[in-house]
Amino acid sequence: MLPTIAWDGETVVMIDQRRLPQEETYLRCRDQHEVAAAIRDMAIRGAPAIGVAAAMGIVLGMQRQASDAAGDRAATFEAIARELAATRPTAVNLSWAIARMRRCLETHLALRTASLVPELLREALAIEREDIDACRRLGDLGALLLPERARVLTHCNAGALATAGYGTALGIVRSAARLGRLEAVFADETRPFLQGARLTLWELMRDGIPTTLITDNMAAHFMARGEINAIVVGADRIAANGDVANKIGTYGLAVLAKEHCIPFLVAAPLSTFDPATPTGVDIPIEERSPHEVTHIAGQRVAPEGAVARHPAFDVTPARLVSAIVCERGVARAPLADSLAQLARIVG
Ligand code: MRU
Repeated sequence: MLPTIAWDGETVVMIDQRRLPQEETYLRCRDQHEVAAAIRDMAIRGAPAIGVAAAMGIVLGMQRQASDAAGDRAATFEAIARELAATRPTAVNLSWAIARMRRCLETHLALRTASLVPELLREALAIEREDIDACRRLGDLGALLLPERARVLTHCNAGALATAGYGTALGIVRSAARLGRLEAVFADETRPFLQGARLTLWELMRDGIPTTLITDNMAAHFMARGEINAIVVGADRIAANGDVANKIGTYGLAVLAKEHCIPFLVAAPLSTFDPATPTGVDIPIEERSPHEVTHIAGQRVAPEGAVARHPAFDVTPARLVSAIVCERGVARAPLADSLAQLARIVG
């Protein structure tokens, strides 16, 4: 399986997603500052993957902590957590992973555990392992929701590269391929960062899954011609009412899906659910540099001085979502009740 991120004993190693597909190079982070920079600069991206990176970044930071006093260790943890949490605001998996690491720290400080860092590492590795398990489970569940000869459109990259492994939306695609239910995959290029063209194609082609690259503005055309019969996307945060924040462009696809009576499925582990955020309006949307819009692969495509905007995510209202698939089951309309029920099973 694709090595998105790994702990190698002393450092955090991640495939540098900015360089794919041209180069398969690995980035080695030695401290929490390097992990924070890797998340901010998109060397690692995708909601679950940045959660795992943050957990491992905390371990790196805590390893460097000189004093053994409980108060000092708690203060160090909070400083590291602040730096990592500030990197990208929309994906809730980041703050979810940090909160889980904080609970681990507090438990072991209370127990006066002598070797705190190994306990934190155990927790970070558990987050990584559980994410792979969750993706495999939701992949298998979601595959059964697809039409029997599925012709799936996916957006951005919600694959192995965006998770600890296997993927969410691409987990469903992988499981459907294994079950013989997949006829075709369309990946839209996902301007401006081109996660679809660069990463989804790279990933699925490695797995031998037949995938066709289209530009974002071709989606309606293929839906109208009946060449797409399901849309499957990932999520960065799911509000309590079922509104879904995901890569910019997702909302438009959901509107098109409704017009063409195509199921619109969202695949996400429970770590992406945010019951504390009531609706999509309350989800912070990351605004990235306009440079990523005015330039493609470092080449200017707009005139010098052009004004541009780059909201990195949009919110799809719950009413446009056919189902949300997680590792514990499938939520359907009314999504607020269905999600609350899944959370209770967990809880
Ligand atoms: O800006 P990115 O590349 O981090 O955005 C990623 C997405 O929007 C994914 O669809 C989402 O994180 C789900 S990944 C399983």
